[in-house]
Parts: sequence; structure tokens; C-alpha cells
Amino acid sequence: MCGIVGYTGHRQAAPILLDSLSRLEYRGYDSAGLAVRNGTALAEVVKATGKLYHLADKTDQGRALTGNCGIGHTRWATHGDPSVVNAHPHVSGNCSGSGSGAVESDVVGVHNGIIENYTELKEKLLRHGYVFYSDTDTEVAVKLVDYYYKKYKIGPVDAITRCMVRIRGSYALALMFKDYPDEIFAARKDSPMIIGIQDQESYLASDVPAILKYTRQVYYIDNLQVARVSPGKVLFYDLNGDEVSMPLTEITWDAEAAEKGGFEHFMLKEIHEQPQAVRDTLNSLVKDGRIDLSETGLTDEIIQGIEQIDIVACGSAWHVGMAAQYVIEDLAGIPVRVELASEFRYRNIPMDRKTMVIVISQSGETADSLAALRVAKERGTMTLAIVNVIGSTIAREADHVLYTLAGPEIAVATTKAYSAQLAAADVLAIHLARIREKITQEREDEMLAELALLPDKMARILEEKERLQWFSSKMANTHDIFFIGRGLDYAISLEGSLKMKEISYIHSEAYAAGELKHGTISLIETGTLVIGVLTQKELYEKTVSNMMECKSRGAYLMGITTNGNFSVEDSVNFTVYIPKTDEHFMASLAVIPLQLLGYYTSVKGAFRSSWAAARSLLKTVHWTVFRARRTP
Ligand code: BG6
Repeated sequence: MCGIVGYTGHRQAAPILLDSLSRLEYRGYDSAGLAVRNGTALAEVVKATGKLYHLADKTDQGRALTGNCGIGHTRWATHGDPSVVNAHPHVSGNCSGSGSGAVESDVVGVHNGIIENYTELKEKLLRHGYVFYSDTDTEVAVKLVDYYYKKYKIGPVDAITRCMVRIRGSYALALMFKDYPDEIFAARKDSPMIIGIQDQESYLASDVPAILKYTRQVYYIDNLQVARVSPGKVLFYDLNGDEVSMPLTEITWDAEAAEKGGFEHFMLKEIHEQPQAVRDTLNSLVKDGRIDLSETGLTDEIIQGIEQIDIVACGSAWHVGMAAQYVIEDLAGIPVRVELASEFRYRNIPMDRKTMVIVISQSGETADSLAALRVAKERGTMTLAIVNVIGSTIAREADHVLYTLAGPEIAVATTKAYSAQLAAADVLAIHLARIREKITQEREDEMLAELALLPDKMARILEEKERLQWFSSKMANTHDIFFIGRGLDYAISLEGSLKMKEISYIHSEAYAAGELKHGTISLIETGTLVIGVLTQKELYEKTVSNMMECKSRGAYLMGITTNGNFSVEDSVNFTVYIPKTDEHFMASLAVIPLQLLGYYTSVKGAFRSSWAAARSLLKTVHWTVFRARRTP
């Protein structure tokens, strides 16, 4: 995933840009580049493939690039292969795109997102004499801005807005114009971008951790807005080119929250931060023993009028929706549908104001979830967002917002945001049930007391992580893993399976246990790992019998269950016990061993492949030396 940074102020820009880019490395990239302006001199562009240190080496850690204004980018190839020519920044002038020194160009820019109609725009520009050096949609965007800038002899803001109405797709753009030294122009649609201010300096970034070291005072540039950024000052414009004012927001995250803090990987750190994320989220929603959702604006009247809930999300957030479905239906008696945002947005589901659409998202920026939210609003439903990033687009556009307090989540595979979302969904379910008089005050109190105990129980599971580490090392050669469960246990299985395949690259699938026999069971063979999630009393025997069917085909069985409740040790090869809690909240505990399993299996797999690589290298060295000795 690409990253954008920018700086304009009184200090040398390049070292700051490199440092900010390094804080976005976790997002993955294949090349990187910088463009720096020194007063009125032409922009110097430097690009490199591979890791950021190549770019740092090329620029003497940024020191070789003089100038106080610049933009930087880490690229994850979408249009065109990962190469220096395709790396950003891109320029409007005619050049080789090699990114080596001062470039005669009126516009220089970097871009995140995908421009869907770039072929059509490129043809238009080719007809007007533009020459292209790269395969990227970004070069098209930069040249289109240049085209309007020159054709209508207008300023950067108007040239950019003209371009914005022609572009289809998503983008966050940061551009510098030759005639406007010390200024950066930014625009965005459905791709995040923030602008930070500190004294006489301004920073740009596609994600908060990039600039947290420098400032906590940020503006979230709105969708379809342009920002004109100069040292310590920002002006915002709408699509008509009219100036608009935007609120300054303070980021309250601790800068350390975006560092690894002694853990080997961000994912492991965030797995360990889950008790705190859940505690913080619960404390923000339950005050003095009572649920307080007043900040969301969800009144009792609104809650009483809900006839249907549609939960819409992507990835793990969708799995939270799957779990919440069982809890809300069981406690509050409201029918719940759970939809993938990427499907929901293209469906014509009948809905009205009595339907509440809940969008769940860590980032609050996921394109399909945002599009689904907008579709829901267009259809006249009421919308609630469960979001982690304060001020994100989904949070701003939803009618009601319930924030999770997981802090910044750096690892791409979510863990602590998932857990915080589950906790928030559980509180919401209890609240809906109580307001609609489906549960008594006493039952609410009991459940809140159980929720409050979850963080400590999660911490207890984490204390026993070595057992899972051992099991992961034993199973790391497995080719196929099936996660099975029924009801809420099926929702947990979905998340366990995604964690496993997303990071270990081992094929895994989650199945509703009763569905396995309808064809898929033929894939179970000797050594296939089948993990049964067994936390629901009424369903556990049925899932165990499905596991036995797998065992008779040679499967190796692991079971996750609660201590003392269900006895599976005689039936399965490896059992993980988790503490007891109210069955509605089991997902919060059962998911932790599954996250650890995914994490340790991936680490073991990485070790295996580096050991294999080292062995093959040793072999090559051995044969080279051997041959050299024999060659006269
Ligand atoms: C995916 C991530 O790309 O996006 C998942 O790998 C995440 O971990 C999903 O759940 C949705 O993201 P968000 O920010 O909308 O919760």
C-alpha cells in the first residue's frame, strides 16, 4: 500500500521526508522517491526501487538534497511494474523518468489510489502532445493538472479542481508547482490524507504515524477538497474553488503507540495490547456501571424504532459483524443481516428509516465500506459507524459514531481493533436489549460485570502463549487448515482462518461445522489440521461429532474450549483451554489463541524459508568453491 509524505518549513526537507516515509514502511512498498524544492530552483527528483535505505543511500540520508519543501512516496505497484521509472514522484515535463536530479517540469506529484479512467485521459493528453515515460496512472494525473494549468492559465487550485471532476476512482494527491516555491497542493477522494501544523512548519501524510513525531495538530482534508499548504499555514477549497474552513484536530495517541516497543513485530505487540484496548473501549461506553452511549446520539426513541439491522464491513471487521449478529439477535431480538461492503454497495436491498446500517471499520477509510455507507444514506436509512480512527471519513459521514479506543493499529492484520470492535458491539447489543426491554436490569448488570472481567481473562490467555508457540512450530509444515464451529463459534472460526492465511500463507478455510459434510470434507486427508471452536454449550457436541468425521479421514485435531466445561481431551490431539465467560462474549477470548497461532506459524514459516534460503546459499558457495578448486 502506498504512502505519501510532505514537508514545507524552515528545515531541510529530505531527512524529514525520509524519516516520515520510514514510519509508513509497515504498509509495504516496492519503491520510493522524493522531490525537493530549494526556493525557486527546479525540483530535484530522486527515486529508488527496493527498501527505503536505497533511497537514503542515494541521497546521503537526505543531506544531498537541499531545499525546505518537498514530497515523498512509497509505492506499491498497481499500474506498471515496480521500477524506478514507475516510482513516484512523477513530473509533467518531458523526461526519462529516471529520477536523478533537477527536472524541468511545471508540476511534480505523488499519488495514492487508483484512477479508473486513466487510459481515456492518457489518450486525450497524447492528442495534446504530452509524452509519457511511465505506465502509471499517476503520471496521467500530474500531466492532466499541468494541461489545465496551462490551457486556462489558472492557479494550481483551479487546475486541480478541473482535474478532479475529470478523474474517476480514488486518489490522494500531493503536488508542487514550479511557480509556487515553498507550497504543496493536496487533493483527495476516498483515499486518506492529513495535514499537520507545528509553528512555522507544515507536514502532509497519508497516515498519522508518519508525522506523529513532529506534530499532533492535524487537519483531515475532506473528500473532494483541495488544500494549499505553506509553512505553518493551510487553506482549504471545495470543488468550486471556494475557500472553506476545516477544524484543527489534536491527535491524542502516544507517539510510542506507533513504535514496536521491544516486540519483534507490530502484530505481536498489538496482540498484547488487546486487554488495554478492550478496557479503554469498555470504559468509554460504560460509566459508573451504566451504559452511556449519549455521545453517539442514539436516543431511546431511535433504538425503539429499529426494525432491522444491517451490518456492513470488510475483512475482520465483517467477522466482528458476524459475531455481533448472534449476540444482537439473541439479546435484543432484532433481525440482523451481515453483508460484505464490497457486495452490499452493488445490491439493491430494500431498506428504510427503520433499518439501521452499522458500518464497522478500523481505519474508517476502507473504500468499499465508505461506499456502502453512502449507499445506505442515499436509501434513507439511519447509519451508525463503529470506527477506530477519530475524524476518519466514515466517522464523519455516518449519522452516529461509536468510537473504539484501540489506539493506532500498525500491523495490517488487525488484532486489537478487532477485539475493541467486538467489545463495542457487545455493549451495543446489551444496550439495545435493555432499552427494548428484552433483558432485565439485573441481567444487564451481570453481563456488564462479565465484560469488565474480559481484559484480565485475555491477559491470562496471553500468559500461556508458549504452548501455542510450541504447537505452531509442530504444525508449521501443514498445507491445509480448516477452522470449524457453529453459531458464534463459526464467526470466531472465520477470523481464525483469515489470520492464519493472511500472514502465514498457509491455505485455510473456515466452515460452519455442519456444512463441511456437503462436499468439502473430501479435502480432509491424513495430516490436515482441523481446529474446532467449542465455546457454545448447546452446539459443542455437534461440532465435536463433525471433528470426529474429520478424524476418521486422518485429520489432526485441535480444540478450543472452556476450562472444566467441556471435555474434549480424549477426542482431540491438542486442546487449548480459555477462561469461562458469558457465552455471548466468547469470541473475545477464543480469538486470542487463534491470533497467536497465526502469528507464530507465520514466524516459524519465515524462519523455515530463510533457513532453506541459507542452506541453498551454502550449497551454491560450496559448489562454486569446489568447482574453482578443480578448475586449472
Ligand atoms: C483488510 C485488513 O485489508 O482490511 C483487515 O487486512 C481489515 O485486517 C480490513 O479488517 C478492513 O479494514 P477496516 O480499516 O475497514 O477495518
